[in-house]
Amino acid sequence: MAVKTILTEPNKLLRQVSLPVEKVGNEEKQLMDDMLETMYEAKGIGLAAIQIGIPKRIIVMDIGSKKKEPMYFINPVIKNKNSEHSTYEEGCLSVPNQFAEVDRPSTCEVEFLDYNGNKKILKASGLLATCIQHEMDHLEGILFIDYLSKLKKMMIVKKLSKQKDKVDRIIV
Ligand code: NI
Repeated sequence: MAVKTILTEPNKLLRQVSLPVEKVGNEEKQLMDDMLETMYEAKGIGLAAIQIGIPKRIIVMDIGSKKKEPMYFINPVIKNKNSEHSTYEEGCLSVPNQFAEVDRPSTCEVEFLDYNGNKKILKASGLLATCIQHEMDHLEGILFIDYLSKLKKMMIVKKLSKQKDKVDRIIV
């Protein structure tokens, strides 16, 4: 396993639509292992492959509070969304140190392939439902800041761009 670099906004790759996985083989398993390690290292609860620059429809998550409970979603599709919404304050490893309230359907049903390529259906609610929807947005090139007002989004992107442009200061 290896910790990979997480891409941050603004970055064109993060806006790319990820492609379906044709078969779950060793390469995909290796990728999921790396993604999980990268996510744990960054202290996140979810990561999509595109966040480490790989445009494949793969997500890893762990919302366990006491022990590690890794979850793997390959080619996830949302079947049912609740018309009722819930609000969480969201952050994203690709939008470092920025948080905002986002409204999403409070429950959803997701069909996906698991780590071993087996078809699964998961009924999600609460944090799990929000997290899976946030991660699935990444597969479409969508970030949570896209749900904010134009002004708020612009301010966040500007702040992130400034952080990126910063050069190291040396005193000699
Ligand atoms: Ni994210």
